[in-house]
Amino acid sequence: MPRYLIFILAYCLGAIPFAYLAGQLKGIDVRRHGSGNIGTTNAFRLLGVKMGILVLLGDFLKGAMAAGLGLWAYGAWGGIIGGFLAMASHSFNPFFGFRPSGKGVAAGFGIITVLMPKIMFLAIGVFLLVVLITRFVSMGSVAGALTVLVTVFVFPEPLAYRVFGVVAVLAVLILHRANFKRVLKGTEHRFGDKKIS
Ligand code: G3P
Repeated sequence: MPRYLIFILAYCLGAIPFAYLAGQLKGIDVRRHGSGNIGTTNAFRLLGVKMGILVLLGDFLKGAMAAGLGLWAYGAWGGIIGGFLAMASHSFNPFFGFRPSGKGVAAGFGIITVLMPKIMFLAIGVFLLVVLITRFVSMGSVAGALTVLVTVFVFPEPLAYRVFGVVAVLAVLILHRANFKRVLKGTEHRFGDKKIS
């Protein structure tokens, strides 16, 4: 099998809509409730902790596998291309007409775990701290992403990983536009709140 085919595999892995599939098992279309996002946070919100953990695992693993395959085949640049492809198909899912579908945070967590494990631990720490303080998962995600953006230049990471840090983090920030607006309007869902709208 030609090695470049792993990039097609990476794209296909990213397109597996775990939150949507888990919702279907419970008779809930996650696109129509909560934030409408086909991602881990909305799965926790709408489907409960057990399903949320399964979706987190699925989204994490697809990012990790996509980056891992690229890394194995072509080194650091292959790793980030595999990661980008998985994030692109997760966030603009071909099964849902390439419309914005996810924010790529759990998949990105998997990618960073494979490529930059030290940075992953720091980003997770900041994410948890911000979620604990604000109870906004979205703001935890943004803070975790910004941690990656800064630390990728602090640690002696390869250029490829720095490029990933800048491009992926900017994408994650842009994909959180609606969350920023909801936080400012006071309508953003807080982690632990019962009401789902
Ligand atoms: O990881 C996505 C999270 O930061 C926001 O998700 O569903 O609240 O828009 P959501």
